[in-house]
Amino acid sequence: MSAKRVTSRDQAGDAILDLFKHDTTQDAPVDPTQRLRVGIIGTGWIAAAHLQSYLAMPDVDVVAGADLVPGKADAFFKAHGLEGVRTYLSHKDMLDNEELDAVSVCTYNTTHAECTIYALEKGVHVLLEKLMTVTLDEAVAVCRAEKRSGKVLSIGFQPRFDPNMRKIKEIVQSGLLGEVYYIQTGGGRRKGIPVPFGTSFIEKDTAGIGAVGDIGCYSLDMVLNAIGYPKPLTVTGVTSAYFGTNPGYYRHHPEYAEKFGVDDFAAAFIRLEGGITVDFRIAWAMHMDTSGDTLILGTKGGLRIPSTECWNGTVGGAMKLYFDAAGSPMEAEVPILESPPSLFDLKIRTFLDAVKTGGPAPVPSSEILYNQAIIDAICKSSKLGREVEVVIPEID
Ligand SMILES: NC(=O)c1ccc[n+]([C@@H]2O[C@H](COP(=O)([O-])OP(=O)(O)OC[C@H]3O[C@@H](n4cnc5c(N)ncnc54)[C@H](O)[C@@H]3O)[C@@H](O)[C@H]2O)c1
Repeated sequence: MSAKRVTSRDQAGDAILDLFKHDTTQDAPVDPTQRLRVGIIGTGWIAAAHLQSYLAMPDVDVVAGADLVPGKADAFFKAHGLEGVRTYLSHKDMLDNEELDAVSVCTYNTTHAECTIYALEKGVHVLLEKLMTVTLDEAVAVCRAEKRSGKVLSIGFQPRFDPNMRKIKEIVQSGLLGEVYYIQTGGGRRKGIPVPFGTSFIEKDTAGIGAVGDIGCYSLDMVLNAIGYPKPLTVTGVTSAYFGTNPGYYRHHPEYAEKFGVDDFAAAFIRLEGGITVDFRIAWAMHMDTSGDTLILGTKGGLRIPSTECWNGTVGGAMKLYFDAAGSPMEAEVPILESPPSLFDLKIRTFLDAVKTGGPAPVPSSEILYNQAIIDAICKSSKLGREVEVVIPEID
């Protein structure tokens, strides 16, 4: 990846397209003169980041938006100084009435699948926010719709574009670690149940799933992407909700405890194809400062990634490589690389380039399907109180 910084002057023009060429998986040339008509489904918190990135792109017209809450989409576009954007009260209304090239699906988790499938069926390319879906069944339905449509579907994992996250993959793929056989990963916040803008992350009807999906998907993606997404085989998992259900947790909104219908902690032991095991834990809240460093152990070397907030694309400090040389144990530091100012711009740009060239998607659903299968299996295992086999249906 280019370490060049994007200046605001660059962002005003075509230079932004050149900068992102290094970050796309496209081989085909991207036509900078082709304009794309984009719609946004769900105009809540994360939609603002999508809109700002689209507005920074010289080849995009944001022409429509939809939100179930009357007046919300209008207010959203007005707040961003946009006039003339047509608004609708549901994704269906918008997709039935607009000629769009692409949409961002920025709805809460429980409507990801229906919005994405409907858009793909209408022949529209989709950038779907993480987590992909709530359940594995939904993820499979989304992948099938993608396959039938032949359109681009990319999943919104912006940390993928961080140079430090990429370095992890480069190190593993270079063979320096030999054969990877064990990974410890996860993350946690001391007090970070996401309720700054209301309760859509904690109610069962809207979120469907808690920390295990919301931030667990990032921790899993960081390591599974590095090792090439081997197929998950079995999972023993537990989830709990000791903090979110406690009225004392919320300083100003004790009533949120009654609304809390998801998990705030999960731990799991995951077996992957190729004899790799993953020891995983994740927390929205816990009485601890960290749930530990990420460790990747291989037959020739090991990599320590200091406790990360990988959902922000950040690692907690310089990574360390452990290996033997000349018969002695050695260590080497992997310095932190400067991150680009907006991982979000990269997520949007690489998606748009994939739309223009017909793919592949920068963050493909075929990989995230395995991520989702693990999350689904953790929830099932926790309910059943035993290990479960991961069965992923064919995408036909
Ligand atoms: N990539 C990131 O860094 C990041 C950060 C935050 C949230 N997210 C993801 O973004 C998604 C949305 O999160 P948020 O915080 O913006 O939620 P939010 O609750 O603020 O906004 C979601 C909006 O979607 C609307 N909506 C739901 N179903 C709809 C439908 N069928 N048609 C039209 N509108 C519909 C809701 O009315 C709501 O206004 C979540 O899945 C979350 O995991 C990603």
